[in-house]
Amino acid sequence: MSSRIIPVQPFDYVVFGATGDLTKRKLIPALYHRFMDGQFDEQSRIIGVSRSDLSDAEFQDLACDAVTQFVDKDYQDKATIDRFVSIFSYIVNDVLNEEGWGDLGQALRDDANIVRAFYLAVAPDLFAPIAQYLSKQGYYRRDARVVIEKPLGHDLLSSMQINDGVAEIFEEDQVYRIDHYLGKETVQNLLALRFANTLFEPIWNSAHIDHVQLTVAESVGAGTRGYYDESGALRDMIQNHMLQLLCLVAMEPPASDDANALRDEKLKVLRALKPIANSDVTKMTVRGQYKGVKSETTSVAGYQEELPEDKKGSRTETFVALKAEIGNWRWSGVPFYMRTGKRMANRVSEICIQFKPIPHSIFDHAEGAPRANKLIIRLQPDEGVKLMMMIKDPGPGGMRLREVPLNLSFAQTFTERTPEAYERLLLDVIRGNQTLFMRRDELEAAWMWVDPIREAWDRSSEPPQPYTAGTWGPSGAIALIERDGRTWYEDEV
Ligand code: BG6
Repeated sequence: MSSRIIPVQPFDYVVFGATGDLTKRKLIPALYHRFMDGQFDEQSRIIGVSRSDLSDAEFQDLACDAVTQFVDKDYQDKATIDRFVSIFSYIVNDVLNEEGWGDLGQALRDDANIVRAFYLAVAPDLFAPIAQYLSKQGYYRRDARVVIEKPLGHDLLSSMQINDGVAEIFEEDQVYRIDHYLGKETVQNLLALRFANTLFEPIWNSAHIDHVQLTVAESVGAGTRGYYDESGALRDMIQNHMLQLLCLVAMEPPASDDANALRDEKLKVLRALKPIANSDVTKMTVRGQYKGVKSETTSVAGYQEELPEDKKGSRTETFVALKAEIGNWRWSGVPFYMRTGKRMANRVSEICIQFKPIPHSIFDHAEGAPRANKLIIRLQPDEGVKLMMMIKDPGPGGMRLREVPLNLSFAQTFTERTPEAYERLLLDVIRGNQTLFMRRDELEAAWMWVDPIREAWDRSSEPPQPYTAGTWGPSGAIALIERDGRTWYEDEV
């Protein structure tokens, strides 16, 4: 079975920051795939805007390089690439300088049937000035869309300032705040799993679920990324991606798939998160920073060694583990343990729903008690869903029980390529579908919960706990969950 390709309306996609890393690594490859699949054609245009002095032809070369470098070889087709890059044009414009703005007017088509979208792949302090210029130059339309992405502030106040700046020109229904996790197929699949099956919803609550674990572990380091040291794992991963995952696991079923119906439910979860009081921060959160390893076979630099001279001694966390609690009827007493870090043992993102043990066992426990069921949703890599169940170990003799997975592997079940998050998100902007984008109130509720943790860390004299690169984080993270008589899930089967 193959997915349906529904073409979108022709568009003018204006990309500010057109020569940057995000454009090359993510946006151009994603648009190429959608073009290749016939979701749009040469009636659409991609207009790059940046300070670099490039011609249209040079920008088309850049687009071509981006495809050859970042699209899997199996999907590179010379004729398609030529057609694709033919829709690229380029405007040299220092966005803070009035002069270059006139040229954009020449490139934009004045046709109400052509969707107009502005992608701001630039630093957030430029969002407001760009919005102002767009309006002043007459490029703003009430049906135009603006796409922005993190870092959307470094705390509640700065995030409100960014949003206020954009809101001076664009209405909330025109603003598309990207959290690329929401565009991941497996993350969207959480919605299908919960709301397209009757099996899980009746037991999706504190009566049946003991606790939930969310892990986003990465094997890459972070010290050479300039932005990271200003951010740290709490802002970079927890405030956005991981809280969004938590919302999708914990929210009530929305009444429909309408964007606001879904976002209303996510917002309720964020608002129901119990604030972690200053006095509880040490007990409920752990922050870590990786240190290097040197052995005969490996040599991995620690975070400090990767940092430039003027940043040495930084106390930025590259790992966070914490225990969140949701104060509502459904989740009362069910902890949500989250952990994320750089330079961890493996690259793996998964959600583990740990059910409660059976209330009464009829089996002989000499060979071990039945283990409680677990539902494991693997977001990446090896996407899939596993339900850990107890079965009878085959063979005569006693009744021995064994835990085995009911295993749905996406790679084995589907033959199609799994689209990248940006493919879905970029075209949802054209379709005018905000479901997978964060609304302003969600973003602010997330900052509101995260800020006190950050502030308590800043006040503390304790540095982040060191952990060795290539491990599962500092020992404090293990202690955090083991204090509650639980352990982190690690794939055993
Ligand atoms: C980004 C973070 O938002 O997400 C990065 O800034 C992180 O630090 C990345 O590496 C993870 O995304 P993915 O899609 O590779 O899991």
